[in-house]
Amino acid sequence: MDFSELNKSRYSCRSFSDRKIDDELLNSVLKEGLIAPTAKNNQPFRIYILDSDEALKKVDEVTSCRYKAKTVLLFTYKKDEEWVSPLDEGITSGIQDASIVATTIMLKAKEAGLDTCWVCYFENRKLKKLLNLEESEECVLLMPIGYASASASPSPRHYEKRDYNELVKKL
Ligand SMILES: Cc1cc2nc3c(=O)[nH]c(=O)nc-3n(C[C@H](O)[C@H](O)[C@H](O)COP(=O)(O)O)c2cc1C
Repeated sequence: MDFSELNKSRYSCRSFSDRKIDDELLNSVLKEGLIAPTAKNNQPFRIYILDSDEALKKVDEVTSCRYKAKTVLLFTYKKDEEWVSPLDEGITSGIQDASIVATTIMLKAKEAGLDTCWVCYFENRKLKKLLNLEESEECVLLMPIGYASASASPSPRHYEKRDYNELVKKL
């Protein structure tokens, strides 16, 4: 599959089967994410694999968006490791860094026959407490990952794309 085909084939999967991901396959997908660029190469992100009953129960306590996936990834960043702009107050890189890593993993997962969904609809601070994350660590997104169920399909919203000229402009 070339990149364009791969990119088009990805959609937000909201129905996963019971089939668990082999550890080796998951590790190979995650390793690809570690190649992604981060500001000043600080690599402030962390990825947590949530697949025990206990961890998945915690995920279910903070979101309705697990979609029955047996594995959920949590992407965070450490506030004391992110790049801080010396030019503008409040401009930092942590969310961007974690998001580039997550996007890379999302596409690599698709290539590996896995589906994913980017989830921001969760009680962020509650999850941080439930998982005993350090004060300096911030949650960015949850990502259910696994094999799509037989009934999984893209939502109608997947096809609603604005026109190129509305989104891309020369100034
Ligand atoms: C930042 C971000 C947050 C999102 N949060 C959620 C979410 O909490 N729950 C969910 O089901 N989908 C979520 N999505 C998926 C979007 O709804 C989806 O990407 C969009 O509707 C386009 O559909 P597609 O991914 O199938 O192309 C999120 C996507 C992004 C990029």
